[in-house]
Amino acid sequence: MPVYGLSAIIALVLIFSVVRAGSTRHAASPISWGPCDPSVVNDKSLSCGYFDVPLDYQDPSVGNARLAVGKINATGERRGTVFFNPGGPGESGIAILDQNVDLLLEVTGGVYDVVSWDPRGVGFLTTPGEVLCFDSLAEYTAFFNGTIELRGIEELGSFDNPADVDALLAQAETMQQKYEEVGQRCLQSPSGKYLKYIGTAATVRDMVAMADALEGPDTPINYFGVSYGTLIGSWFVNMFPERIGRVIIDGVLDPVIFADYEISTHFLHYLVSVDTIYKALVTGCALAGPAGCAAASEGDGPLDVDAKIQALLKTAYNAAHVNPSAPLTSGQIRTDLFFDIYSPTNWSALMNEGYLAAVQIINSEAQGNGSLQERSIDLPSSRGFVKRVSNDSPSYSPPAIWCADNVDLQGTTMADVFRSIIAGTRNISHIFGAGWYTQFYLCSFWPVRSVERYQGPFEKTLANKIIIGSNTYDPITTLAGAQRLAGLLGDDAMLVQLNGFGHTAIVGEPSTCIRNIYSAYMTNGTLPANNTVCEVDEDFGVFAGVTTAEILAHLSNVNV
Ligand SMILES: *[C@@H]1O[C@H](CO)[C@@H](O)[C@H](O)[C@H]1NC(C)=O
Ligand SMILES: *[C@@H]1O[C@H](CO)[C@@H](O)[C@H](O)[C@H]1NC(C)=O
Ligand SMILES: *[C@@H]1O[C@H](CO)[C@@H](O)[C@H](O)[C@H]1NC(C)=O
Ligand SMILES: *[C@@H]1O[C@H](CO)[C@@H](O)[C@H](O)[C@H]1NC(C)=O
Ligand SMILES: *[C@@H]1O[C@H](CO)[C@@H](O)[C@H](O)[C@H]1NC(C)=O
Ligand SMILES: *[C@@H]1O[C@H](CO)[C@@H](O)[C@H](O)[C@H]1NC(C)=O
Ligand SMILES: *[C@@H]1O[C@H](CO)[C@@H](O)[C@H](O)[C@H]1NC(C)=O
Repeated sequence: MPVYGLSAIIALVLIFSVVRAGSTRHAASPISWGPCDPSVVNDKSLSCGYFDVPLDYQDPSVGNARLAVGKINATGERRGTVFFNPGGPGESGIAILDQNVDLLLEVTGGVYDVVSWDPRGVGFLTTPGEVLCFDSLAEYTAFFNGTIELRGIEELGSFDNPADVDALLAQAETMQQKYEEVGQRCLQSPSGKYLKYIGTAATVRDMVAMADALEGPDTPINYFGVSYGTLIGSWFVNMFPERIGRVIIDGVLDPVIFADYEISTHFLHYLVSVDTIYKALVTGCALAGPAGCAAASEGDGPLDVDAKIQALLKTAYNAAHVNPSAPLTSGQIRTDLFFDIYSPTNWSALMNEGYLAAVQIINSEAQGNGSLQERSIDLPSSRGFVKRVSNDSPSYSPPAIWCADNVDLQGTTMADVFRSIIAGTRNISHIFGAGWYTQFYLCSFWPVRSVERYQGPFEKTLANKIIIGSNTYDPITTLAGAQRLAGLLGDDAMLVQLNGFGHTAIVGEPSTCIRNIYSAYMTNGTLPANNTVCEVDEDFGVFAGVTTAEILAHLSNVNV
């Protein structure tokens, strides 16, 4: 669940037994700050260094990991450090630090150094680094040639054609074998021996070890985490409740669902708000009309815009049935659109440029002209499927982290995963349920779990009150998840809501109100009233001349 603007669950048995007791004390190396690697960082004002930590906090004999760390210096009188994680998992903390210097200094009031790092399993500077299980993208695409990994799932919104159900289930055995083989390839890759030391509990201990080295043992630790970074946050505040300083987590991945269920069969339970956000997209487009949104014709209402998108999906679906190698399938559109909908700041570009490009490709393939777009469209592996990295091999860092953190293998089959997708498409998200979200669906077949996981409780008493932020409508980290964590933490968490759309309150849509609350808290410890609701800035047009408030006002009438 990286945040692009800042640049994307019944095994109760396990709850206590997997968390091993242990101290984080170890011989910490101080960080020697110097210039950053120019392949990752452009801003010359950042400092970088390395920090050694034990691979296994319970077994020093295993040796060390080496974390690449980056820092924005405080601009005012320095009061300490705020650690930052941008989510993903799998995003480079250092790269995102570099791209968001102004925002991070604003949120932290300029009175802290802002430190981020490439966690275990991420990037090419940290060891163990990026998890690569294929030699190249070509090897990966040949391995998955013709499968739903690359082609996506074909259906029309409720799997109401039994042939679509049968076609999907018919691939279960093949896909399960492929994913089991991917797991073995990852184990045999150079990363293989490190896989069990990658994961969020180790990353939490790494942050605490850095805080010990930079600020001293037993000092309060300040943290800002967004998206997946909130899982680090909710584990951190419960693993180290006595160390909590000023902590903001925004875009909350419900840690209870994650701790209790397999993410492969429960992924769609995170998508309860996304069809509402799709309604906001078509509503905003209709309000803008053809001058502001290419998908709208004069006089169109939201349902007319929706009908055009549904027609496009249907055309792509039909084309894929006629030509099994049609280059853009309805499944790929659904998956891509899911990641596009994270960022209302880019909806205008999406519904103007992106929509028109898709129309052109689909119409041309409907006319039997399938050859021209292989070069004009991104390979699906670039976003929705797996993250691509510079050497052109798909990265398995996101599943290496999610899966290592998730509950033990339950004997779940790919047919079970498919059945959860069919049910979720019918009763959770018609538009996005059938997207293919590899990094989650792999977890039932991932061969490794981390040596330490934190699976609760999530209701510890904290040394300081924290802020939990959420959009009212977030496609993947829902308000319900934020409310659940706030409820568990009781008096120790203040919930702040941005009345808008997109992934996380801090970058989903611009809100001075949210930024002021975050910076007043970080700077002065000022707590907002619990359940404060912020609005999106009025001068922000989602589409030309269309504000979030107008979309919200029209949303209740729409039933797509
Ligand atoms: C930031 O602080 C480090 C010391 O921690 C120093 O070496 C570096 O020069 C500072 N960077 C800037 C741009 O002032
Ligand atoms: C994928 O399979 C098709 C036929 O099934 C074949 O024509 C094509 O060359 C294959 N592509 C790769 C990259 O292996
Ligand atoms: C915004 O959308 C356009 C059109 O879909 C796309 O080409 C571009 O990459 C997007 N930009 C960002 C920052 O997501
Ligand atoms: C089919 O693709 C070719 C090659 O790009 C192009 O010249 C031709 O105009 C296309 N035909 C249609 C009907 O789109
Ligand atoms: C959707 O249907 C499945 C299977 O029938 C069920 O387990 C699940 O609870 C339902 N989810 C919602 C949100 O209704
Ligand atoms: C804030 O409100 C939520 C409900 O939205 C509640 O669960 C939580 O305990 C409240 N926190 C405080 C500090 O009262
Ligand atoms: C922090 O408090 C000081 C003194 O009251 C005030 O001047 C400043 O604006 C506050 N900072 C923020 C970010 O709210």
